[in-house]
Amino acid sequence: MSKEWFKDSVVYQVYPMSFQDSNNDGIGDLPGIAERLDYIKKLGADVIWLNPIYKSPNKDNGYDIADYKAINPDYGTMADFDKLLSETHEKGMKLLMDLVVNHTSDQHEWFKESKNSKDNQYADYYIWRDPVDGHEPNNWRAAFGGSAWTYVPARGQYYLHLFAPGQPDLNWENPEVRQSVFDIERFWLDKGVDGFRMDVINLISKPAGLPDVPGVATAGTTLAFVADGPRLNEFLKQMNEEVLSHYDVMTVGEMPGSTPEDAIKYTGLKSNELNMVFQFEHVLLSPNPDVRLDKWNDEPVKLPELKVALNKWQKALDGKGWNSLYWNNHDQPRAVSRFSNDDPKYRVRAAKMLGTTLHMMQGTPYVYEGEELGMTNAHHTKLNQYEDLESVNAYHELVDQKHIVDGPTMLKYLANMSRDNARTPMQWDSEANAGFSKVTPWYALNTNYKEINAEAVLKDDHSVFYYYQKLIKLRHDNEIIRRGTFEELDPKDDQVYAYRRHYGDQTLLVVSNFTDQTITRDYDQKDASKLLIGNYDDDEGTTLRPYESKVYLFK
Ligand code: GLC
Ligand code: CA
Repeated sequence: MSKEWFKDSVVYQVYPMSFQDSNNDGIGDLPGIAERLDYIKKLGADVIWLNPIYKSPNKDNGYDIADYKAINPDYGTMADFDKLLSETHEKGMKLLMDLVVNHTSDQHEWFKESKNSKDNQYADYYIWRDPVDGHEPNNWRAAFGGSAWTYVPARGQYYLHLFAPGQPDLNWENPEVRQSVFDIERFWLDKGVDGFRMDVINLISKPAGLPDVPGVATAGTTLAFVADGPRLNEFLKQMNEEVLSHYDVMTVGEMPGSTPEDAIKYTGLKSNELNMVFQFEHVLLSPNPDVRLDKWNDEPVKLPELKVALNKWQKALDGKGWNSLYWNNHDQPRAVSRFSNDDPKYRVRAAKMLGTTLHMMQGTPYVYEGEELGMTNAHHTKLNQYEDLESVNAYHELVDQKHIVDGPTMLKYLANMSRDNARTPMQWDSEANAGFSKVTPWYALNTNYKEINAEAVLKDDHSVFYYYQKLIKLRHDNEIIRRGTFEELDPKDDQVYAYRRHYGDQTLLVVSNFTDQTITRDYDQKDASKLLIGNYDDDEGTTLRPYESKVYLFK
Protein backbone atom coordinates (compact mmCIF):
# COMPACT_ATOMS: atom_id res chain seq x y z
CA MET A 1 0.00 0.00 0.00
CA SER A 2 1.24 3.48 -0.81
CA LYS A 3 2.31 5.58 2.14
CA GLU A 4 0.42 8.40 0.48
CA TRP A 5 -3.03 7.06 1.43
CA PHE A 6 -3.51 10.12 3.62
CA LYS A 7 -3.90 12.14 0.42
CA ASP A 8 -6.72 9.97 -0.85
CA SER A 9 -8.64 9.74 2.41
CA VAL A 10 -11.60 11.48 3.97
CA VAL A 11 -11.63 11.57 7.76
CA TYR A 12 -14.69 11.41 10.01
CA GLN A 13 -14.15 12.85 13.49
CA VAL A 14 -15.89 11.21 16.45
CA TYR A 15 -16.22 13.00 19.79
CA PRO A 16 -16.68 9.86 21.91
CA MET A 17 -18.49 11.52 24.81
CA SER A 18 -21.25 12.72 22.48
CA PHE A 19 -21.50 10.08 19.78
CA GLN A 20 -23.44 7.04 21.04
CA ASP A 21 -24.13 5.76 24.54
CA SER A 22 -24.40 1.95 24.58
CA ASN A 23 -24.92 1.25 28.31
CA ASN A 24 -27.29 4.08 29.14
CA ASP A 25 -25.23 6.05 31.62
CA GLY A 26 -25.66 9.17 29.50
CA ILE A 27 -22.07 9.17 28.21
CA GLY A 28 -21.01 8.06 24.75
CA ASP A 29 -18.62 5.11 24.70
CA LEU A 30 -16.50 2.76 22.57
CA PRO A 31 -19.14 0.02 22.10
CA GLY A 32 -21.48 2.84 21.02
CA ILE A 33 -19.03 3.90 18.33
CA ALA A 34 -18.70 0.27 17.21
CA GLU A 35 -22.49 0.11 16.76
CA ARG A 36 -22.31 3.06 14.39
CA LEU A 37 -19.40 2.00 12.18
CA ASP A 38 -21.75 1.09 9.34
CA TYR A 39 -23.18 4.59 9.42
CA ILE A 40 -19.70 6.12 9.04
CA LYS A 41 -18.86 3.61 6.32
CA LYS A 42 -22.07 4.48 4.49
CA LEU A 43 -21.04 8.12 4.38
CA GLY A 44 -17.86 6.98 2.65
CA ALA A 45 -15.20 8.00 5.17
CA ASP A 46 -11.89 6.14 5.04
CA VAL A 47 -10.48 7.11 8.41
CA ILE A 48 -11.99 7.74 11.85
CA TRP A 49 -10.30 10.13 14.24
CA LEU A 50 -11.24 9.64 17.90
CA ASN A 51 -10.88 12.52 20.35
CA PRO A 52 -9.01 11.36 23.51
CA ILE A 53 -10.36 8.21 25.14
CA TYR A 54 -7.65 7.76 27.78
CA LYS A 55 -7.98 7.78 31.54
CA SER A 56 -8.57 11.39 32.53
CA PRO A 57 -10.17 13.49 35.26
CA ASN A 58 -11.89 15.23 32.31
CA LYS A 59 -11.24 18.80 33.36
CA ASP A 60 -10.85 19.51 29.67
CA ASN A 61 -12.90 16.59 28.32
CA GLY A 62 -10.02 14.16 27.97
CA TYR A 63 -7.32 16.63 26.91
CA ASP A 64 -5.87 16.16 30.39
CA ILE A 65 -4.53 12.61 30.38
CA ALA A 66 -3.76 10.74 33.59
CA ASP A 67 -2.68 7.47 31.94
CA TYR A 68 -1.83 7.22 28.25
CA LYS A 69 -2.10 3.44 28.20
CA ALA A 70 -5.49 3.08 29.87
CA ILE A 71 -9.02 3.65 28.57
CA ASN A 72 -11.29 6.06 30.43
CA PRO A 73 -13.74 3.67 32.20
CA ASP A 74 -16.64 5.89 31.09
CA TYR A 75 -15.80 4.81 27.54
CA GLY A 76 -15.26 1.11 28.25
CA THR A 77 -12.25 -1.18 28.53
CA MET A 78 -9.11 -1.94 26.55
CA ALA A 79 -10.94 -5.01 25.23
CA ASP A 80 -13.67 -2.69 23.90
CA PHE A 81 -10.99 -0.64 22.22
CA ASP A 82 -9.32 -3.67 20.63
CA LYS A 83 -12.70 -4.77 19.33
CA LEU A 84 -13.48 -1.34 17.91
CA LEU A 85 -10.09 -1.24 16.20
CA SER A 86 -10.45 -4.67 14.62
CA GLU A 87 -14.03 -3.99 13.49
CA THR A 88 -12.95 -0.67 11.98
CA HIS A 89 -10.24 -2.50 10.05
CA GLU A 90 -12.61 -5.29 8.98
CA LYS A 91 -14.86 -2.67 7.45
CA GLY A 92 -11.93 -1.28 5.50
CA MET A 93 -11.47 1.89 7.53
CA LYS A 94 -8.57 3.20 9.59
CA LEU A 95 -8.38 4.66 13.07
CA LEU A 96 -6.48 7.75 14.26
CA MET A 97 -5.85 8.43 17.92
CA ASP A 98 -5.56 11.83 19.53
CA LEU A 99 -2.06 12.28 20.95
CA VAL A 100 -1.98 14.95 23.65
CA VAL A 101 1.67 15.39 24.63
CA ASN A 102 2.21 19.11 25.02
CA HIS A 103 0.84 18.54 28.52
CA THR A 104 -0.51 15.81 30.78
CA SER A 105 -3.11 15.90 33.55
CA ASP A 106 -1.92 16.99 36.99
CA GLN A 107 -3.23 13.55 38.00
CA HIS A 108 -0.63 11.77 35.85
CA GLU A 109 1.92 9.77 37.90
CA TRP A 110 4.75 11.80 36.37
CA PHE A 111 3.32 15.04 37.68
CA LYS A 112 2.32 13.64 41.05
CA GLU A 113 5.99 12.72 41.55
CA SER A 114 7.40 15.79 39.88
CA LYS A 115 5.64 18.24 42.16
CA ASN A 116 6.96 16.61 45.33
CA SER A 117 10.59 17.67 45.19
CA LYS A 118 13.42 18.85 42.98
CA ASP A 119 15.24 15.54 43.02
CA ASN A 120 12.85 12.74 42.10
CA GLN A 121 12.86 10.67 38.89
CA TYR A 122 10.31 12.99 37.25
CA ALA A 123 11.55 16.27 38.73
CA ASP A 124 12.52 17.58 35.30
CA TYR A 125 9.52 16.21 33.35
CA TYR A 126 7.67 19.53 33.57
CA ILE A 127 8.64 23.20 33.27
CA TRP A 128 9.45 24.47 36.77
CA ARG A 129 10.79 27.95 37.52
CA ASP A 130 11.68 29.88 40.65
CA PRO A 131 9.55 32.90 41.53
CA VAL A 132 10.82 36.23 40.21
CA ASP A 133 10.52 39.00 42.84
CA GLY A 134 8.01 36.84 44.66
CA HIS A 135 5.69 36.28 41.71
CA GLU A 136 5.24 34.44 38.40
CA PRO A 137 8.37 34.01 36.23
CA ASN A 138 6.79 35.84 33.25
CA ASN A 139 3.55 37.42 31.98
CA TRP A 140 2.18 34.43 30.04
CA ARG A 141 -1.58 33.87 30.22
CA ALA A 142 -3.26 30.45 30.12
CA ALA A 143 -5.72 29.48 27.42
CA PHE A 144 -8.47 28.80 29.94
CA GLY A 145 -7.98 31.92 32.05
CA GLY A 146 -5.51 33.35 34.54
CA SER A 147 -1.74 33.15 34.62
CA ALA A 148 0.02 30.30 32.85
CA TRP A 149 1.92 29.59 36.09
CA THR A 150 0.80 27.88 39.29
CA TYR A 151 2.85 27.87 42.49
CA VAL A 152 3.60 24.62 44.36
CA PRO A 153 4.85 25.19 47.93
CA ALA A 154 6.54 21.74 48.18
CA ARG A 155 9.01 22.79 45.48
CA GLY A 156 8.88 26.52 46.14
CA GLN A 157 8.44 26.88 42.39
CA TYR A 158 5.90 27.58 39.70
CA TYR A 159 4.99 25.13 36.91
CA LEU A 160 3.94 26.18 33.44
CA HIS A 161 0.51 25.32 32.01
CA LEU A 162 -0.47 26.96 28.73
CA PHE A 163 -3.98 25.58 29.31
CA ALA A 164 -5.75 24.88 32.64
CA PRO A 165 -3.78 24.43 35.90
CA GLY A 166 -4.75 20.74 35.64
CA GLN A 167 -2.78 20.53 32.36
CA PRO A 168 0.94 21.00 33.21
CA ASP A 169 3.20 21.37 30.14
CA LEU A 170 5.76 18.63 29.57
CA ASN A 171 9.42 19.62 29.35
CA TRP A 172 10.41 18.48 25.87
CA GLU A 173 13.96 19.76 26.43
CA ASN A 174 14.42 16.70 28.64
CA PRO A 175 15.40 13.75 26.39
CA GLU A 176 13.69 11.32 28.78
CA VAL A 177 10.37 13.08 28.23
CA ARG A 178 10.76 12.58 24.50
CA GLN A 179 11.53 8.89 24.98
CA SER A 180 8.46 8.53 27.21
CA VAL A 181 6.29 10.08 24.49
CA PHE A 182 7.80 7.81 21.84
CA ASP A 183 7.07 4.83 24.08
CA ILE A 184 3.37 5.84 24.24
CA GLU A 185 3.26 6.16 20.48
CA ARG A 186 4.77 2.71 19.99
CA PHE A 187 2.25 1.22 22.43
CA TRP A 188 -0.68 2.34 20.27
CA LEU A 189 1.00 1.77 16.92
CA ASP A 190 1.90 -1.78 17.93
CA LYS A 191 -1.79 -2.34 18.64
CA GLY A 192 -2.40 -1.41 15.02
CA VAL A 193 -3.75 2.14 15.12
CA ASP A 194 -3.19 4.01 11.88
CA GLY A 195 -1.81 7.30 13.08
CA PHE A 196 -2.23 10.32 15.27
CA ARG A 197 -3.83 13.72 15.39
CA MET A 198 -1.32 15.59 17.54
CA ASP A 199 -2.81 18.10 19.91
CA VAL A 200 -1.26 21.63 19.86
CA ILE A 201 1.99 20.02 18.73
CA ASN A 202 3.50 23.34 17.66
CA LEU A 203 3.64 24.44 21.31
CA ILE A 204 6.07 21.76 22.54
CA SER A 205 9.28 23.77 22.05
CA LYS A 206 9.20 26.89 24.23
CA PRO A 207 11.18 30.03 23.37
CA ALA A 208 14.62 29.98 25.04
CA GLY A 209 14.67 31.78 28.38
CA LEU A 210 10.84 32.02 28.47
CA PRO A 211 10.75 35.81 27.91
CA ASP A 212 7.65 37.98 28.44
CA VAL A 213 5.05 38.20 25.66
CA PRO A 214 5.54 41.65 24.13
CA GLY A 215 2.53 44.02 24.18
CA VAL A 216 -0.76 42.88 25.71
CA ALA A 217 -0.44 39.39 27.16
CA THR A 218 -3.66 37.42 26.57
CA ALA A 219 -4.25 33.72 26.06
CA GLY A 220 -4.20 34.36 22.32
CA THR A 221 -1.03 36.45 22.21
CA THR A 222 0.71 33.96 24.53
CA LEU A 223 -0.05 30.99 22.28
CA ALA A 224 1.03 32.92 19.19
CA PHE A 225 4.28 33.88 20.94
CA VAL A 226 5.06 30.35 22.08
CA ALA A 227 4.02 28.61 18.84
CA ASP A 228 6.62 27.19 16.45
CA GLY A 229 9.50 27.35 18.91
CA PRO A 230 13.20 26.95 18.10
CA ARG A 231 13.46 23.14 18.53
CA LEU A 232 10.10 22.11 17.08
CA ASN A 233 11.52 20.82 13.80
CA GLU A 234 14.22 18.93 15.63
CA PHE A 235 11.73 17.27 18.03
CA LEU A 236 9.37 16.28 15.23
CA LYS A 237 12.20 14.92 13.09
CA GLN A 238 13.41 12.82 15.98
CA MET A 239 9.88 11.49 16.52
CA ASN A 240 9.63 10.63 12.87
CA GLU A 241 13.02 8.95 12.72
CA GLU A 242 12.67 6.94 15.90
CA VAL A 243 8.97 6.03 15.69
CA LEU A 244 6.65 7.15 12.90
CA SER A 245 8.83 6.15 9.94
CA HIS A 246 8.74 2.55 11.17
CA TYR A 247 4.98 2.31 10.67
CA ASP A 248 2.52 2.99 7.85
CA VAL A 249 0.73 5.90 9.48
CA MET A 250 -1.03 9.17 8.87
CA THR A 251 -0.24 12.20 11.03
CA VAL A 252 -1.87 15.58 11.40
CA GLY A 253 -0.52 18.22 13.75
CA GLU A 254 -2.86 20.73 15.32
CA MET A 255 -1.01 24.04 14.93
CA PRO A 256 -2.74 27.22 16.08
CA GLY A 257 -0.86 30.25 14.81
CA SER A 258 1.12 28.43 12.11
CA THR A 259 1.68 30.09 8.75
CA PRO A 260 1.92 28.24 5.41
CA GLU A 261 5.68 28.72 5.56
CA ASP A 262 5.78 26.97 8.94
CA ALA A 263 3.53 24.20 7.67
CA ILE A 264 5.80 23.54 4.71
CA LYS A 265 8.65 22.99 7.14
CA TYR A 266 6.68 20.28 8.97
CA THR A 267 4.72 18.68 6.12
CA GLY A 268 7.11 19.40 3.27
CA LEU A 269 7.71 16.50 0.96
CA LYS A 270 11.30 16.18 2.15
CA SER A 271 10.86 17.25 5.76
CA ASN A 272 9.94 13.82 7.20
CA GLU A 273 7.96 15.22 10.07
CA LEU A 274 4.16 15.20 9.69
CA ASN A 275 1.74 14.63 6.81
CA MET A 276 -0.35 17.74 7.36
CA VAL A 277 -1.39 20.36 9.89
CA PHE A 278 -4.63 21.90 11.10
CA GLN A 279 -4.13 25.61 10.54
CA PHE A 280 -6.42 28.10 12.28
CA GLU A 281 -6.65 31.15 10.02
CA HIS A 282 -10.19 30.64 8.75
CA VAL A 283 -11.65 29.59 12.11
CA LEU A 284 -10.19 32.64 13.88
CA LEU A 285 -11.58 35.21 11.45
CA SER A 286 -13.40 38.27 12.81
CA PRO A 287 -11.54 38.31 16.15
CA ASN A 288 -12.74 40.96 18.57
CA PRO A 289 -11.22 44.38 17.72
CA ASP A 290 -10.49 44.68 21.45
CA VAL A 291 -7.46 42.36 21.65
CA ARG A 292 -8.21 41.59 25.30
CA LEU A 293 -11.31 39.71 24.12
CA ASP A 294 -9.33 37.41 21.81
CA LYS A 295 -11.62 35.16 19.75
CA TRP A 296 -14.85 36.21 21.48
CA ASN A 297 -17.08 37.99 18.97
CA ASP A 298 -20.51 37.78 17.37
CA GLU A 299 -19.51 39.02 13.92
CA PRO A 300 -20.28 36.96 10.84
CA VAL A 301 -17.23 35.99 8.81
CA LYS A 302 -16.70 38.23 5.76
CA LEU A 303 -16.43 36.23 2.56
CA PRO A 304 -13.38 38.04 1.08
CA GLU A 305 -11.48 37.41 4.33
CA LEU A 306 -12.48 33.76 4.28
CA LYS A 307 -11.16 33.49 0.74
CA VAL A 308 -7.87 35.14 1.66
CA ALA A 309 -7.43 32.65 4.50
CA LEU A 310 -8.29 29.47 2.60
CA ASN A 311 -6.88 30.39 -0.83
CA LYS A 312 -3.54 31.34 0.68
CA TRP A 313 -3.10 27.80 2.03
CA GLN A 314 -4.29 26.22 -1.22
CA LYS A 315 -1.73 28.14 -3.23
CA ALA A 316 1.17 27.97 -0.80
CA LEU A 317 1.13 24.24 -0.09
CA ASP A 318 0.49 23.05 -3.64
CA GLY A 319 3.32 20.71 -4.58
CA LYS A 320 5.17 21.55 -1.37
CA GLY A 321 3.09 20.21 1.51
CA TRP A 322 -0.45 19.01 2.11
CA ASN A 323 -3.58 20.72 3.47
CA SER A 324 -6.17 19.48 5.89
CA LEU A 325 -9.64 20.79 5.04
CA TYR A 326 -12.10 21.44 7.84
CA TRP A 327 -14.95 23.79 8.68
CA ASN A 328 -15.44 22.70 12.27
CA ASN A 329 -14.45 20.27 15.00
CA HIS A 330 -14.97 19.83 18.75
CA ASP A 331 -13.34 23.25 19.40
CA GLN A 332 -15.32 25.27 16.88
CA PRO A 333 -18.92 26.29 16.43
CA ARG A 334 -21.03 24.41 13.88
CA ALA A 335 -20.06 25.16 10.29
CA VAL A 336 -23.48 26.11 8.94
CA SER A 337 -24.07 28.53 11.82
CA ARG A 338 -20.66 30.16 11.71
CA PHE A 339 -19.92 30.39 7.98
CA SER A 340 -23.37 30.48 6.41
CA ASN A 341 -27.02 30.51 7.43
CA ASP A 342 -28.69 28.04 9.80
CA ASP A 343 -32.19 29.54 9.41
CA PRO A 344 -34.48 26.55 8.71
CA LYS A 345 -35.40 28.17 5.39
CA TYR A 346 -31.81 27.90 4.12
CA ARG A 347 -29.98 25.48 6.40
CA VAL A 348 -29.89 22.39 4.16
CA ARG A 349 -28.92 24.32 1.06
CA ALA A 350 -26.29 26.32 2.96
CA ALA A 351 -24.75 23.23 4.58
CA LYS A 352 -24.38 21.59 1.17
CA MET A 353 -22.92 24.79 -0.28
CA LEU A 354 -20.24 24.85 2.43
CA GLY A 355 -19.51 21.15 1.90
CA THR A 356 -19.01 21.71 -1.82
CA THR A 357 -16.78 24.72 -1.32
CA LEU A 358 -14.39 22.84 0.97
CA HIS A 359 -14.48 19.32 -0.46
CA MET A 360 -13.45 20.43 -3.93
CA MET A 361 -10.18 21.90 -2.59
CA GLN A 362 -6.80 20.19 -2.48
CA GLY A 363 -6.15 18.41 0.81
CA THR A 364 -7.65 15.84 3.14
CA PRO A 365 -11.23 16.68 4.19
CA TYR A 366 -12.37 16.19 7.79
CA VAL A 367 -16.07 15.81 8.57
CA TYR A 368 -17.02 16.45 12.20
CA GLU A 369 -19.81 14.26 13.62
CA GLY A 370 -23.20 15.78 12.83
CA GLU A 371 -21.85 18.06 10.10
CA GLU A 372 -23.28 15.54 7.64
CA LEU A 373 -26.71 16.18 9.21
CA GLY A 374 -26.30 19.93 8.94
CA MET A 375 -26.30 20.21 12.74
CA THR A 376 -26.39 23.80 14.03
CA ASN A 377 -25.14 25.82 16.98
CA ALA A 378 -27.06 25.37 20.22
CA HIS A 379 -28.16 29.04 20.40
CA HIS A 380 -27.88 29.13 24.18
CA THR A 381 -28.92 32.29 25.99
CA LYS A 382 -27.85 31.60 29.59
CA LEU A 383 -24.49 31.01 31.20
CA ASN A 384 -25.67 27.87 33.00
CA GLN A 385 -26.27 26.20 29.63
CA TYR A 386 -22.51 26.08 29.08
CA GLU A 387 -20.29 23.29 30.28
CA ASP A 388 -16.88 23.85 28.69
CA LEU A 389 -14.24 25.35 31.00
CA GLU A 390 -13.04 27.69 28.26
CA SER A 391 -16.48 29.32 27.89
CA VAL A 392 -17.34 29.43 31.57
CA ASN A 393 -13.93 30.75 32.64
CA ALA A 394 -13.88 33.35 29.88
CA TYR A 395 -17.27 34.68 31.01
CA HIS A 396 -16.16 35.01 34.64
CA GLU A 397 -12.80 36.57 33.76
CA LEU A 398 -14.02 39.06 31.14
CA VAL A 399 -17.39 39.98 32.67
CA ASP A 400 -17.16 39.51 36.45
CA GLN A 401 -13.49 40.06 37.19
CA LYS A 402 -12.15 42.46 34.58
CA HIS A 403 -15.40 44.17 33.49
CA ILE A 404 -14.16 44.32 29.90
CA VAL A 405 -17.54 43.37 28.48
CA ASP A 406 -21.10 43.21 29.84
CA GLY A 407 -22.89 39.91 30.47
CA PRO A 408 -25.51 40.03 27.69
CA THR A 409 -22.82 40.87 25.11
CA MET A 410 -20.57 38.05 26.30
CA LEU A 411 -23.51 35.63 26.05
CA LYS A 412 -23.86 36.62 22.40
CA TYR A 413 -20.15 35.97 21.90
CA LEU A 414 -20.48 32.54 23.53
CA ALA A 415 -23.50 31.70 21.39
CA ASN A 416 -21.39 32.46 18.32
CA MET A 417 -18.05 30.94 19.31
CA SER A 418 -18.34 28.52 22.25
CA ARG A 419 -16.90 25.05 21.80
CA ASP A 420 -20.05 23.69 23.45
CA ASN A 421 -21.92 24.33 20.20
CA ALA A 422 -20.11 21.33 18.77
CA ARG A 423 -20.38 19.11 21.82
CA THR A 424 -24.12 18.53 22.13
CA PRO A 425 -24.86 14.82 21.61
CA MET A 426 -25.22 13.33 18.16
CA GLN A 427 -28.81 13.42 16.91
CA TRP A 428 -29.69 9.90 15.76
CA ASP A 429 -33.49 10.04 15.72
CA SER A 430 -36.53 11.99 16.91
CA GLU A 431 -37.24 9.79 19.96
CA ALA A 432 -36.49 10.80 23.56
CA ASN A 433 -32.78 11.69 23.99
CA ALA A 434 -32.41 11.59 20.20
CA GLY A 435 -31.40 7.90 20.18
CA PHE A 436 -28.11 8.93 21.77
CA SER A 437 -29.04 7.33 25.10
CA LYS A 438 -32.01 6.06 27.04
CA VAL A 439 -31.25 8.46 29.89
CA THR A 440 -30.59 12.19 30.08
CA PRO A 441 -27.24 12.77 28.33
CA TRP A 442 -24.18 14.25 30.10
CA TYR A 443 -24.80 17.44 28.11
CA ALA A 444 -28.14 18.70 26.84
CA LEU A 445 -29.19 17.93 23.28
CA ASN A 446 -29.72 20.66 20.77
CA THR A 447 -33.47 21.35 20.89
CA ASN A 448 -33.77 20.94 17.12
CA TYR A 449 -33.05 17.18 17.17
CA LYS A 450 -36.63 16.28 16.22
CA GLU A 451 -36.10 17.94 12.81
CA ILE A 452 -32.38 17.35 12.38
CA ASN A 453 -31.31 13.74 12.92
CA ALA A 454 -29.68 10.77 11.22
CA GLU A 455 -32.89 8.79 10.79
CA ALA A 456 -34.46 11.70 8.90
CA VAL A 457 -31.49 12.33 6.60
CA LEU A 458 -31.17 8.66 5.72
CA LYS A 459 -34.81 8.65 4.54
CA ASP A 460 -34.43 11.80 2.44
CA ASP A 461 -32.66 11.57 -0.93
CA HIS A 462 -32.09 15.33 -0.83
CA SER A 463 -30.44 15.37 2.56
CA VAL A 464 -27.10 16.84 3.56
CA PHE A 465 -25.96 13.27 4.32
CA TYR A 466 -26.41 11.98 0.78
CA TYR A 467 -24.92 15.15 -0.62
CA TYR A 468 -21.77 14.63 1.51
CA GLN A 469 -21.75 10.99 0.46
CA LYS A 470 -21.68 12.16 -3.14
CA LEU A 471 -18.93 14.73 -2.47
CA ILE A 472 -16.80 12.01 -0.91
CA LYS A 473 -17.43 9.60 -3.78
CA LEU A 474 -16.56 12.28 -6.33
CA ARG A 475 -13.23 12.81 -4.56
CA HIS A 476 -12.51 9.09 -4.55
CA ASP A 477 -13.37 8.80 -8.25
CA ASN A 478 -11.68 11.93 -9.62
CA GLU A 479 -7.95 12.48 -9.59
CA ILE A 480 -8.49 16.18 -10.35
CA ILE A 481 -10.30 16.68 -7.03
CA ARG A 482 -7.54 14.98 -5.09
CA ARG A 483 -4.49 16.26 -6.94
CA GLY A 484 -5.42 19.22 -9.15
CA THR A 485 -3.73 22.59 -8.65
CA PHE A 486 -5.74 25.53 -7.37
CA GLU A 487 -6.58 28.74 -9.22
CA GLU A 488 -8.20 31.53 -7.25
CA LEU A 489 -10.97 33.57 -8.94
CA ASP A 490 -12.15 37.06 -7.97
CA PRO A 491 -10.95 37.09 -4.36
CA LYS A 492 -12.68 40.44 -3.67
CA ASP A 493 -16.17 39.24 -4.72
CA ASP A 494 -18.11 39.40 -1.45
CA GLN A 495 -21.01 37.21 -2.62
CA VAL A 496 -19.54 34.31 -4.53
CA TYR A 497 -16.68 31.93 -3.74
CA ALA A 498 -15.32 30.66 -7.04
CA TYR A 499 -12.15 28.78 -7.96
CA ARG A 500 -10.77 26.41 -10.55
CA ARG A 501 -8.70 23.28 -10.25
CA HIS A 502 -6.41 22.05 -13.04
CA TYR A 503 -5.11 18.56 -13.73
CA GLY A 504 -3.71 17.42 -17.06
CA ASP A 505 -6.17 18.59 -19.71
CA GLN A 506 -9.05 18.83 -17.22
CA THR A 507 -10.41 21.85 -15.40
CA LEU A 508 -12.87 21.93 -12.55
CA LEU A 509 -14.93 25.04 -11.80
CA VAL A 510 -16.46 25.51 -8.35
CA VAL A 511 -18.98 28.34 -7.85
CA SER A 512 -20.74 28.95 -4.52
CA ASN A 513 -23.24 31.67 -3.74
CA PHE A 514 -22.74 32.67 -0.10
CA THR A 515 -25.85 34.93 -0.07
CA ASP A 516 -29.62 34.48 0.15
CA GLN A 517 -30.02 36.47 -3.10
CA THR A 518 -30.31 35.29 -6.68
CA ILE A 519 -27.33 36.67 -8.58
CA THR A 520 -25.41 35.90 -11.77
CA ARG A 521 -21.75 35.16 -12.45
CA ASP A 522 -20.33 34.14 -15.80
CA TYR A 523 -17.43 31.69 -15.72
CA ASP A 524 -18.18 30.16 -19.14
CA GLN A 525 -20.42 27.57 -17.52
CA LYS A 526 -21.98 26.99 -20.98
CA ASP A 527 -18.73 25.43 -22.22
CA ALA A 528 -18.56 22.83 -19.46
CA SER A 529 -18.73 19.20 -20.45
CA LYS A 530 -20.50 18.13 -17.27
CA LEU A 531 -22.10 19.36 -14.06
CA LEU A 532 -20.53 17.05 -11.46
CA ILE A 533 -22.67 18.11 -8.52
CA GLY A 534 -24.97 20.92 -7.47
CA ASN A 535 -27.35 21.59 -4.59
CA TYR A 536 -30.41 22.45 -6.74
CA ASP A 537 -32.23 19.91 -8.92
CA ASP A 538 -31.56 21.77 -12.15
CA ASP A 539 -28.89 24.08 -13.52
CA GLU A 540 -29.60 27.63 -14.60
CA GLY A 541 -26.10 28.27 -15.92
CA THR A 542 -24.80 31.67 -14.89
CA THR A 543 -27.72 32.20 -12.50
CA LEU A 544 -26.97 31.42 -8.88
CA ARG A 545 -29.94 31.01 -6.56
CA PRO A 546 -29.69 31.48 -2.76
CA TYR A 547 -26.76 29.41 -1.41
CA GLU A 548 -26.47 27.60 -4.73
CA SER A 549 -23.23 25.72 -5.30
CA LYS A 550 -22.13 23.94 -8.47
CA VAL A 551 -19.11 22.03 -9.72
CA TYR A 552 -18.43 21.77 -13.46
CA LEU A 553 -15.90 19.66 -15.30
CA PHE A 554 -14.28 20.99 -18.49
CA LYS A 555 -12.20 18.80 -20.76
C1 GLC B 1 -6.55 21.39 21.56
C2 GLC B 1 -7.80 20.57 21.70
C3 GLC B 1 -8.70 21.24 22.69
C4 GLC B 1 -7.97 21.26 24.01
C5 GLC B 1 -6.60 21.92 23.89
C6 GLC B 1 -5.75 21.61 25.07
O1 GLC B 1 -6.78 22.64 21.03
O2 GLC B 1 -8.40 20.38 20.46
O3 GLC B 1 -9.94 20.61 22.79
O4 GLC B 1 -8.73 21.96 24.95
O5 GLC B 1 -5.89 21.47 22.78
O6 GLC B 1 -5.38 20.27 25.05
CA1 CA C 1 -22.06 5.01 28.15
